[in-house]
Amino acid sequence: MPVLAIVGAQWGDEGKGKIVDLLTEKAKLVVRFSGGDNAGHTVINPYGEFKLHLIPSGIFYPRVTCIIGNGTVINPEVLIGELDQLNQRGIDTSRLLISNRAHLIMPYHTLLDGLEEAARGGKAIGTTRKGIGPAFADKTARRGIRVGDLLDPEAFREQLSFIVDYKNTILTKVYGAKPLYRDEIYHQYCRYGERLAPHIRETTVILHQAIAKDDLVILEGAQGMLLDPDFGTYPYTTSCSPLVSGGCQGSGVGPTNINRALGVFKAYCTRVGGGPMPTELHDEIGDLIRKKAHEYGTTTGRPRRCGWFDAVAARFSAQINGLTGMALTRLDVLSILPRLKICIGYELDGQRIDYLPQNIAALNRCQPVYEELPGWQTPISDILDYQRLPVEARHYVARLEELTSCPANIISVGAKREQTIHKTPIF
Ligand code: GDP
Ligand code: IMO
Ligand code: MG
Repeated sequence: MPVLAIVGAQWGDEGKGKIVDLLTEKAKLVVRFSGGDNAGHTVINPYGEFKLHLIPSGIFYPRVTCIIGNGTVINPEVLIGELDQLNQRGIDTSRLLISNRAHLIMPYHTLLDGLEEAARGGKAIGTTRKGIGPAFADKTARRGIRVGDLLDPEAFREQLSFIVDYKNTILTKVYGAKPLYRDEIYHQYCRYGERLAPHIRETTVILHQAIAKDDLVILEGAQGMLLDPDFGTYPYTTSCSPLVSGGCQGSGVGPTNINRALGVFKAYCTRVGGGPMPTELHDEIGDLIRKKAHEYGTTTGRPRRCGWFDAVAARFSAQINGLTGMALTRLDVLSILPRLKICIGYELDGQRIDYLPQNIAALNRCQPVYEELPGWQTPISDILDYQRLPVEARHYVARLEELTSCPANIISVGAKREQTIHKTPIF
């Protein structure tokens, strides 16, 4: 059995949690490979409704091992809270493994995320303030602390003594903030280490064993392609790669082991936080989508900006990710609209272009060029067979497939696991 990567193909919140939960039925291993608790993955299945921030969305299947991969940054307090919550609701989390190579989010990361955002003023990124950017910055600058370091308290104490002094200089001298107490952090993180120790492993061993045995491995992405620091709307991005290639880096799977790459797309666009979004609707249609579809952030509760499907960005996403197919979610939401628009190009300074400009100012000036399609204006959430969808809905899906050169493997028509149309097989 192959390795299947499932990634966000827009600005995050496409419904990755639902799709991973659904497809884990056939899997043996699910690896969350990037981001941290900036992510919020909603799963609605027979056990209830769950909002997962760090734990893979495959955790509900008793035979499946779940890994939080090396490419993530982990706030242990949040992770322990999530484990406790799942356990209280009767979900067995003993099969959760944490890569010893994953980096830790430390108290100074969350503090600095807030301070750096405030310092940016009107140019704030709109981060989730979970310490993600500062933690990845420390990883790259080689002063990060890794999950495995918690297992050697003496060495951990030494690491901390350098880093806390360094961070306190920045906190007090640059931001005029209060310093942190090293011993307090040390004891707190040692307690976290003791609690998490049974889960901490060299997870690549388990991953490679599964691949050698031909078990189905799912790589669960977080965020979305347009939040990628290289190919997204930089600097209005997150700080690690949400791409399929990030799935290799963040788990330890070799690129040639990935057999299928499924991009999760919403049937329209949303974005939470700052930065350009060419198809954003500032009118009553945007408000209607937000209200009817309850488009509010899973992690921060902030209202999501809503807009039409951007096929220029979607095609780029399919190419950069090397997608073999798409999972199209929230098609049911569009049932409320009489006419639908798809962005098929941009007009930039009087010229028609069909790519995403690198320059943010230019991207902000891009005016979407739309194609209009009729809506279907009938509920579709109970339909499980593609051919039974209204003809207008099938035309809409077919047009998205054509524009992105990506076959729709899955069409999601509701938040529940079973509200799903399997249009074409993934394998
Ligand atoms: P993720 O971060 O990509 O996992 O997505 P989120 O969980 O943050 O946001 C997706 C939202 O859409 C959640 O509230 C899901 O329950 C919901 N959802 C997923 N698929 C569908 C769908 O097909 N229809 C509707 N109406 N809601 C969906
Ligand atoms: P899931 O996995 C939507 C956005 C933030 C902000 C930017 C940088 O649920 O799809 P960060 O805290 O990462 O430094 O914030 O990225 N962002 C997300 N938006 N879904 C997410 O995750 C996101 N994770 C980060 O809103 O604009
Ligand atoms: Mg989300």
